[in-house]
Amino acid sequence: MSQVFVLDHPMIQHKLTYIRSEETGPKEFRELVEEVAMLMAYEVTRDLPLEDVVVKTPVGEAKCKVISGRKVAFVPILRAGLGMVGGMLKLIPAAKVGHIGLYRDPETLEPVEYYCKLPTDLTERELIVIDPMLATGGSAAAAIRFLKERGVKNIKLTCLIAAPEGIKRVQDEHPDVNIYVAAVDEKLNDHGYIVPGLGDAGDRLFGTK
Ligand code: PRP
Ligand code: URA
Repeated sequence: MSQVFVLDHPMIQHKLTYIRSEETGPKEFRELVEEVAMLMAYEVTRDLPLEDVVVKTPVGEAKCKVISGRKVAFVPILRAGLGMVGGMLKLIPAAKVGHIGLYRDPETLEPVEYYCKLPTDLTERELIVIDPMLATGGSAAAAIRFLKERGVKNIKLTCLIAAPEGIKRVQDEHPDVNIYVAAVDEKLNDHGYIVPGLGDAGDRLFGTK
């Protein structure tokens, strides 16, 4: 069974409060989502392997560490996942970025794929799938399935807010994928929205309705 990490760092929780508030407009919402994403990337990459190196300082030789092995790629789920990419790239500027376009059919709530463009060296990388909302889990589970079909083995999922239903679906379908969230909320409403959540992440990021 995969693990769920709730990132309870005070700065993440503080910013998430203002992201949730209906009084926060698109400009501030975008800025806060980016800032939280950067802080989350810091936690999500905590287990990256290190190797020893020696560097010469102006005063002597220092035994240091650098990240070794697999490199990272981010895969935002369009469109709301885009809001988190800039923040994550601030922490890992050399990461590659793939995109998967999915929208939820408003009737069935099942994901419909409309776009996919991924880095060619995907299988050599650790992939961090990004989406602010894990509601029914349909979109995230489909995106991960899609990446696995292309040979990717090392995947993590990072979301701002998750519903218990979404966590369960991803864990059932992908027991090898650890999930990183800033909050686990109470439930889904009849329209598949997370309660209390933050509303429609894509609309709030991009000022649409
Ligand atoms: C939202 C959100 C997730 C999905 C979560 O996207 O960004 O991708 O819903 O719901 P699920 O867990 O039930 O699949 P939406 O489909 O509204 O598309 P958008 O990002 O283009 O607004
Ligand atoms: N998608 C959103 O943007 N918000 C939700 O609460 C659920 C799905």
